[in-house]
Amino acid sequence: MSSHASPLQLLDLIQSHRITAVIYVAAKLGIPDLLLDAPRMTEEIARSTGSNQAAITRLLYALCTIGICERTNGAAYSLTAMGNSLAESAQPSVKAWAIFEGEMLYKSWSGLLDTIKSGKTAAELRGFVDSFEMMGRSPENVHTFNAAMADLTRLVTADVVAAYDFSRFTHLLDVGGGSGELLGAVLTRFPRLSGTVFDLDRCADAATNHLQHIGCENRATFIAGDFFEAVPAVADAIILKSVIHDWNSERSQQILENCRRAIPVDGTLLLAERLISDVPATAEDHRSHALSDLNMMRGPGGLERTSAQYEELLKCAGFEVVGIVPAGRFSVIEAKPALINGT
Ligand SMILES: C[S@@+](CC[C@H](N)C(=O)[O-])C[C@H]1O[C@@H](n2cnc3c(N)ncnc32)[C@H](O)[C@@H]1O
Repeated sequence: MSSHASPLQLLDLIQSHRITAVIYVAAKLGIPDLLLDAPRMTEEIARSTGSNQAAITRLLYALCTIGICERTNGAAYSLTAMGNSLAESAQPSVKAWAIFEGEMLYKSWSGLLDTIKSGKTAAELRGFVDSFEMMGRSPENVHTFNAAMADLTRLVTADVVAAYDFSRFTHLLDVGGGSGELLGAVLTRFPRLSGTVFDLDRCADAATNHLQHIGCENRATFIAGDFFEAVPAVADAIILKSVIHDWNSERSQQILENCRRAIPVDGTLLLAERLISDVPATAEDHRSHALSDLNMMRGPGGLERTSAQYEELLKCAGFEVVGIVPAGRFSVIEAKPALINGT
């Protein structure tokens, strides 16, 4: 039995891109949005999504086998608890990430072999400086990416605000803060705090709209700029979530040194990142971190790091790590400007 189980399990892993495609099509057609309130018959699902009925019936069957839908009675389908999160209005929703994975990452990962052989990112292999420059050529891709990042960040904000006490700060600067998802969650949880999102100009509308939508517009601002050039000196604390993992050591150091220049000597720098362990295991979080690491290698050119690697990186940029707090699959690394010559 076990001698057969292993190749069968392997075959399932080999074919797992099919699951990505099934989930992507369901999200793109808005099937979970349609099923959120009530079960629907296949005829109605086909009509509402503009699909071929026989084909979508088979898709719905597959969605049942992976735990996203359930066949309730006859030909009616409903969402499972997990499937709910594929609807746009669900809290939290991962619909935007499903679309990003299906439309952008899926294509990019098909070239992983080229990256493994050359050590270069997809963008470098196509003659661009980095993936953010490449993405900037298409406003549609920027929108897809920003929405997906907001989904991903929304999955961890509750853990971050529960794990770390931001009430000790006056003003928090979220460097590379994207659409303001993390800053919004922190400001909502800590009502005396004010904050700023600092990111490329192309994130301005999404961040401003989001912060306004959640009622934080009086305590939050957006500043556009390039963190490789300078970081604005507006805060006593800086946070970077999923930013440093995008970059190699040299580029990360430039960002961190600019952060060092932007905070007071008694200021605080926080990194919210995944921490990988030295020894790989088959546990879900190990696999998730390892696949994210390859995603960074193929995409922006960064990497997932161990806590020791973050400590070293921060030390080189003039910071000293004073604490590391686990926050779900992420950790908050707290650092202070290192004292120079004992001062
Ligand atoms: C992986 S996303 C993380 C977004 C956000 N911190 C989050 O976790 O949801 C990286 C962010 O860095 C921003 N970024 C990339 N290059 C930048 C640059 N040169 N200057 C400022 N922001 C930049 C991107 O626009 C993007 O919002």
